[in-house]
Amino acid sequence: MTSGSYPFAMEQELNRSDTVVALQRNVLGCDYGGSSWTTREEADRVAKQLELRRGQCLLEVGAGSGWPGLYLAGLTGCDVVLSDIPVFGLQLALRRAHADNLTERCFAVAADAAALPFAAASFDAISHSDVLCCMPAKEAMLSACRRVARPGARMVFSVIAPSHELSSAERSLAVASGPPHVEVDGDYADLLDRLGWSVTEHNDVTEEYGRCVRAMLVGLEDNQEALIEALGKEEFQRRIGRRRNALTAIGDGLLKRELFFARTK
Ligand SMILES: C[S@@+](CC[C@H](N)C(=O)[O-])C[C@H]1O[C@@H](n2cnc3c(N)ncnc32)[C@H](O)[C@@H]1O
Repeated sequence: MTSGSYPFAMEQELNRSDTVVALQRNVLGCDYGGSSWTTREEADRVAKQLELRRGQCLLEVGAGSGWPGLYLAGLTGCDVVLSDIPVFGLQLALRRAHADNLTERCFAVAADAAALPFAAASFDAISHSDVLCCMPAKEAMLSACRRVARPGARMVFSVIAPSHELSSAERSLAVASGPPHVEVDGDYADLLDRLGWSVTEHNDVTEEYGRCVRAMLVGLEDNQEALIEALGKEEFQRRIGRRRNALTAIGDGLLKRELFFARTK
C-alpha cells in the first residue's frame, strides 16, 4: 500500500510513524495519525452535539485516516461513512475499523467533498475537521453536505480562518501562515445561512488551537532525532516552520479556529 502523490496522502503515510502517533496522542489525545487539530475532548463534545446513537448514520467528510469519524462511531454506536479523496487514508481507516471491531458499521467512499456521490437526504449527521480550510470549493462542499443531509440533520465542523477586520498586509500574513486554503470570502455563518443551514452554536476555539500548536512544536523540537528519522530532514523542517508561523499568526491575532454546530433549516 503506497500513498501516491496527493499531498494529504503523503502526510497520512508519514503520520503513521510511531513517533508521530505518540506525539499526537500526547498533544491531541488521539492516535489515528490524523492531520486536523481536533482533540479527543473536542470529539467527545461533537458526539454529544450531533446526538449520535445506534442506528444513525454519520458522514465524515475529509475523513483522512479515520479521525474523528471512527472514534465517534466507536463511542456512540452509530454507523459511519468516511469520505475523502486519497484512497490511501481510507485504506488505513478501514484497517483501523477492523482492529476496532467497527467493520460492520463503517464504510469508506473516495469522493470529492464538493460533489458527494450520495443520494439526497442520506445522513442523520455530518462532521468535518479542518477540511474547509484545506479546499477551495467551500460553498460547493457546504451545499453538497446540505443535499445529502436528512431533514433535521445536524452538522458540526471546525475550520481555521483569518481573523475579521485585518489590514490587507495582515490578511496576507494570515493566509501565508494557515492551512493551504484558509482564505474565505466573507463569513462561514453567513455562508451556512445562505446554503440552508441554521447555526445553532458557534465557538471560538483559537485558544485551544494555539495551545495544541505550541505543544506540537515543543514535541517536534524535543523529539528531533527520532522525527527526522521518521519524516526526513526536509519534512521535519517544513513542519517546524509551519508550526512556528502558525503560532506567531495566532499570537498576533491573525488566525482563528472556530467550531460550528448547525441544523438543516
Ligand atoms: C486537515 S485534514 C483532516 C483529516 C482528518 N479528518 C483528520 O482530522 O485528521 C483535511 C482533509 O481534507 C481532505 N480534503 C481536501 N480537499 C478535499 C476535497 N475536495 N474533497 C474531499 N476531501 C478533501 C484532505 O484529503 C484531508 O484528508
